[in-house]
Amino acid sequence: MLQPSVIAIDGPAGAGKSTLGALLASHLGYLYFDTGVMYRALALVALQARLDLHDEAEMAKLAYEVQIEVVAPTTDDGRQYTVLVNGEDVTWAIRSPEVERNVSLVARYPQVRREMVHQQQQIGRRGNTVMVGRDIGTIVMPDADLKIFLEASLQERARRRAVERDDDPDQTLMAQIQHDLARRDQLDDHVLKPADDAVILQTDGLSPDDELAWILDYLERDHNG
Ligand code: DC
Repeated sequence: MLQPSVIAIDGPAGAGKSTLGALLASHLGYLYFDTGVMYRALALVALQARLDLHDEAEMAKLAYEVQIEVVAPTTDDGRQYTVLVNGEDVTWAIRSPEVERNVSLVARYPQVRREMVHQQQQIGRRGNTVMVGRDIGTIVMPDADLKIFLEASLQERARRRAVERDDDPDQTLMAQIQHDLARRDQLDDHVLKPADDAVILQTDGLSPDDELAWILDYLERDHNG
């Protein structure tokens, strides 16, 4: 089987990128790197410092100055990794609803993206990495050996998110999550494009293990030519 050194996984919010990325990385013994945490960390710092998130120049300056590190889990509390911002553990803080509401705004600024992409490329170039995001296959790692674009219907993505929060979600929760995801899709639309050479994986009805099996099978067959 061909062993790709860099694997890009892109797709919309809730498509299962993180679950699959972590599973694939652990299967291959690769580093798992979720690039969304960098935009989230930036939004968190800006909110904490009460900066103007509508000021692109200020956000770009912050992106350049702030030190974001993603390291192996430092605590056994279910986390996949630890995120440090200027040395402070923000792993859970970057998942707050306030960050969720504001992250797409800072992620839209070209100057911010330039700096984030630069930092992500430095990590990706070390190889043996599964990188997850929106623009990995198109912008960050256009030479990645394998590019996967995950898709799932809005209903399916909402269902998965809802089940994460509540084993038996009611219609109100489902509708709320679906509404939030539709908004995120709109805000992230500017980067949500599969690379021309990406394989599209439609995941409705598939479990993470099914997806992993599909990718390993793909590597075995098609990718070897
Ligand atoms: O994947 P996520 O929900 O953690 O991403 C958070 C935000 O960052 C979301 O608005 C999309 C954006 N993002 C991006 O623009 N490019 C990436 N490579 C990763 C995330």
